[in-house]
Amino acid sequence: MASEPRKRGAFIVLEGLDRSGKTTQVKLLEQRFIEAGRPAKTMRFPDRSTVIGKMIDGYLKSDVEVEDHVIHLLFSANRWEAAHSIERLLNEGTTIVCDRYYHSGIVYSYAKSNPSMPLSWLTAPESGLPRPDAVLFLDLTPEEARARGGWGNEIYEKEEMQKKVGEAFRQLGGVVDGGEIERDEDVVVVDAGGSVEDVSEKIWSVVAGALNAVERGEKGGVRTVP
Ligand code: TMP
Repeated sequence: MASEPRKRGAFIVLEGLDRSGKTTQVKLLEQRFIEAGRPAKTMRFPDRSTVIGKMIDGYLKSDVEVEDHVIHLLFSANRWEAAHSIERLLNEGTTIVCDRYYHSGIVYSYAKSNPSMPLSWLTAPESGLPRPDAVLFLDLTPEEARARGGWGNEIYEKEEMQKKVGEAFRQLGGVVDGGEIERDEDVVVVDAGGSVEDVSEKIWSVVAGALNAVERGEKGGVRTVP
């Protein structure tokens, strides 16, 4: 008897501001998939272990200065380095739970308000990358982030930057109308202000819907130019 074809894995991305609990939720979600009998693996961007990732790490720690366009392209190149492994894992049936992906790439650079980096320029290098089946933005107010101990020392961990990034993500998720950023149907905004368990439940309810769509074959493919 022929064995059943292996089901494609789901590609789930968690995005969020610093202190939103994203890294904890990525781990919990992986655990939940494994307990449900689905092979799962976590990934994160930037992947600081590669040559390009080390350059990004130096920039984030302010060890080296990197021009705005250049660092944007390095972040994107760091995803392209992993594109084939992402596709392979998904095709093998492994679900990927990813800590940041191209929405961070677009939004953090957008928040710099550099007039020579319009949205069309920012999104172009991401075109053709594997498209996530669901992107959850874990939302936290600056006050809540401060109450959780504030931000670290890396280059973007400043209140002004975090505010701009938060606003841009809310626009992507359709919470705020108007603005230059266009709504992205993959992005769902999740309030990350509750307990770890509450947030985990909210995440799971969104992910469950995406899984059904993956099983019906309605998801997948690559990012296309907007
Ligand atoms: P991390 O704290 O999750 O390791 O992310 C490092 C920082 O890099 C964080 O401030 C978000 C930022 N970032 C970008 O600016 N562009 C990107 O493409 C990614 C993945 C992260």
